[in-house]
Amino acid sequence: MIIVGNFKSYLSNKDDAEAVVKAAGKLTTKHKIILAPSFVHLGYVAAKKAGVALAAQDLSIFEGGAHTGEVSADVISNSGASHVIVGHSERRADGETNSIVATKVCQALSAKLKVVLCVGEESRDAHATYLSFITEQIVSALKGIKEADFKNIVIAYEPIWAIGKGSNEAISTDDLEETVLFIKKVLRENFTEKVMKAVKILYGGSVNAENVKSLMVPGLDGFLPGRASSSKETLKALVEAMDA
Ligand code: PGA
Repeated sequence: MIIVGNFKSYLSNKDDAEAVVKAAGKLTTKHKIILAPSFVHLGYVAAKKAGVALAAQDLSIFEGGAHTGEVSADVISNSGASHVIVGHSERRADGETNSIVATKVCQALSAKLKVVLCVGEESRDAHATYLSFITEQIVSALKGIKEADFKNIVIAYEPIWAIGKGSNEAISTDDLEETVLFIKKVLRENFTEKVMKAVKILYGGSVNAENVKSLMVPGLDGFLPGRASSSKETLKALVEAMDA
């Protein structure tokens, strides 16, 4: 499976980010670990060549040039990252629209970065309107993409109601399995069968060592932990629980 660890803004010191990355590089596991430190720490930890892949947590909508404070896809890929998280709900909460997300996906792919596209509803309702919300997030972000590029797309399903909570508040196994199937259906119906097979699907939202095993449902390709990835102890425990 794939584990994309999103450090968010938990680690203020580059040495702490380096410690987690190095410890992750030493784990013996069959899973692929990709870690997303802050922009400022990215080049620093990349230079340590710890043996794990790196991701940025966001990127600019601009290609480069006169855009003060922006971090372009090219800067990210030249910093040593292979992946970038796009459309995280914490960015969407700060005003990132589906159209901004779509632009970022294109920028990332043109810089040869793999995209971890985050989607997920704020709440679930009895009429299941959240399913159209997820569909819209996926289709709008990916509609302009060439079929061959879909192998560089990973979808992280992160229901907002389950992010940053305790183990008991993560999604139930049944609901996760059903949503993974739903996302595959969206990919097949709005794109192609080939696209559905190419895109990997992750789950994020209060994943930790206690609940990860029960969340390893059929069709799911991995996880996007936040808090549990931001210390070497909790990350190690998570990976060990997956391997157990
Ligand atoms: P969490 O965050 O694991 O701390 O709930 C997940 C995410 O927002 O990516």
